[in-house]
Amino acid sequence: METFRYHSVTISITEDAEPFTSWLTAGNFSRYVLITDSNCYKLVWPLLKKQIRELKKAELIIIKPGEKHKHLDTAQHIIKKLTKLTIDKHALVINLGGGVVSDLGGFVASIYKRGIHYVNIPTSFLAMVDAAIGSKTAVDFNTYKNCIGTIYHPKYVWINTALLKTLPFDEIMNGLAESFKHGLIDSQTHLDIVTEQFERLNLNLIIQQSVAFKCETVEQDLYDVDRRHILNLGHTTGHAIEALLLKRKYPVMHGMCVFYGLITALLISEKRYDFPKEKSNKIIQQIKRYCPILPLKKSDIKTIIRYMYNDKKNSDGEIRMVLLEDIGAPLWNIPVKASVIEDALTATIEIMSA
Ligand SMILES: NC(=O)c1ccc[n+]([C@@H]2O[C@H](COP(=O)([O-])OP(=O)(O)OC[C@H]3O[C@@H](n4cnc5c(N)ncnc54)[C@H](O)[C@@H]3O)[C@@H](O)[C@H]2O)c1
Repeated sequence: METFRYHSVTISITEDAEPFTSWLTAGNFSRYVLITDSNCYKLVWPLLKKQIRELKKAELIIIKPGEKHKHLDTAQHIIKKLTKLTIDKHALVINLGGGVVSDLGGFVASIYKRGIHYVNIPTSFLAMVDAAIGSKTAVDFNTYKNCIGTIYHPKYVWINTALLKTLPFDEIMNGLAESFKHGLIDSQTHLDIVTEQFERLNLNLIIQQSVAFKCETVEQDLYDVDRRHILNLGHTTGHAIEALLLKRKYPVMHGMCVFYGLITALLISEKRYDFPKEKSNKIIQQIKRYCPILPLKKSDIKTIIRYMYNDKKNSDGEIRMVLLEDIGAPLWNIPVKASVIEDALTATIEIMSA
């Protein structure tokens, strides 16, 4: 078992249910409420129930899967159920699912009766490397992603990679983009582990690296006001591409847009900070192996930039980006002119289509 910590949060990575079971029984919680989505209820809950008898008495709240349900309406639906079940302050909410469930369940736990205890048991690769760690909870509001949310710590995060067996492969690629991003920000060694272990489909080591890196980063800036912004590498452009394709009714996986965003950030970093060209070439070739060509044309670039102006990390009407001086040497909150982004996006689309 590997154990990590930030603030008051313990994260254990193990297929063994015993450490979590012991923690659960020692907690003397009044009730357990398990929040999950219908996919995880069907595919993952049976495994978990078998592993942890204690959970057989849990109250179940099952939500519909997908980002479009990470919404206030669903939060309200969960709160209605909690009140109907007369769940008190000493109960434990258990979020079993991907990032949608941990963001939403964490949000509800943070506001119900001014906050009750919760734990995350992530079931997607993305949630294991990213969403379940860091204490950010959120729901979307209209078209604004993560517009309403809190920073509220889970008591425990149990990462059990055996739960990934039923996860569709494109969801694995989604998580890969975030772990690849962690490697780029952290170190060459970390990045090498991601690429080498992914070839062997050994996700365990990749998850350990990401969790260690994310815990360290979160600990340095719990409330996301400064250095934690480095975790947004590739996301300013990535989110804008994702929004454009969604609007066009051509939704693509978030991770694939992040891969495009990483290339754009690398190209700007090369020009502005002399990021070593031979390294960026190698990274871009690697991304091309993971990421399909997205249906983007040069005529889309102006719209993508317009979307980038809406990014929540901007300030004073300027687009702010995370750039790299080198692998493992991130710079954040860097103002970048629209003309520079336009050139880099043009080159990104050309490189990916070549
Ligand atoms: N709080 C944070 O710090 C943070 C960080 C990154 C992402 N996020 C959020 O995470 C969300 C994305 O998370 P996600 O990619 O896990 O999406 P998700 O929760 O929608 O899960 C993706 C799909 O996989 C299914 N699924 C999950 N685990 C499964 C399993 N083991 N077997 C079969 N199917 C399974 C789900 O039902 C869903 O259909 C976004 O809302 C994003 O904003 C939050």
